[in-house]
Amino acid sequence: MSNPFKYGGLVSGEYFFNREKEKAELHQAIEEALNVFLYAPRRYGKSSLALEVLREARERGCICVYLDLLKAPTKQRFLELYAREISKSMTTKFEERLNFCKKTFSRFIPKISLKTGEIPEVEFEVTWSTQTEGIVSEEGIDLPRKITKEENKRVVVVFDEFPEIINYDGKRFEGELRAFIQRHEDVCYIFTAVSGDYSSR
Ligand SMILES: Nc1ncnc2c1ncn2[C@@H]1O[C@H](COP(=O)(O)OP(=O)(O)O)[C@@H](O)[C@H]1O
Ligand SMILES: [Mg+2]
Repeated sequence: MSNPFKYGGLVSGEYFFNREKEKAELHQAIEEALNVFLYAPRRYGKSSLALEVLREARERGCICVYLDLLKAPTKQRFLELYAREISKSMTTKFEERLNFCKKTFSRFIPKISLKTGEIPEVEFEVTWSTQTEGIVSEEGIDLPRKITKEENKRVVVVFDEFPEIINYDGKRFEGELRAFIQRHEDVCYIFTAVSGDYSSR
């Protein structure tokens, strides 16, 4: 019998082991568009669980977005990566993705990176100044609500390692994001955090 565990990276699909109860709870939350906090110590499988649930939800027709906040050390980077992940979640086809970006983003500058042998990737930069900051934030973080309305599909967003957001500018951006999220009644947001991390800050 083969070893069901695969060490060293994130796991999904056939390598994903157990967690049936947690998965069912998250799927329930997705169905009801409830927002969920997933707390556990490091290396307990939060990211793996979230990604596996997203994979299954995608198979059921949801639009699924995953953002690892450890990869977004600044607010600007957060918004750039978020725009990229949202555009990726819309379609796997490059042309369609580009069209979506053209239609959707006015302040984000798409950058297409071409690497040999790979499908081109749309990256984003934003023109960042104190004048545009608010507009850029709104354009990015209000998108899941707009997509839900236009596509008539459930949108699921995972913010992995959410407490990292406090490093941007204290609690300000977090407050801004939460204000939008509260109005996104048909979107399911899943936040992960290392237990103890959030309340202690
Ligand atoms: N359900 C699972 N089945 C098999 N291996 C898992 C499972 N969940 C986590 N792992 C393994 O444990 C390690 C830590 O999981 P990870 O999702 O990165 O934890 P966390 O996000 O909580 O830090 C990963 O390298 C992964 O290989
Ligand atoms: Mg993790």
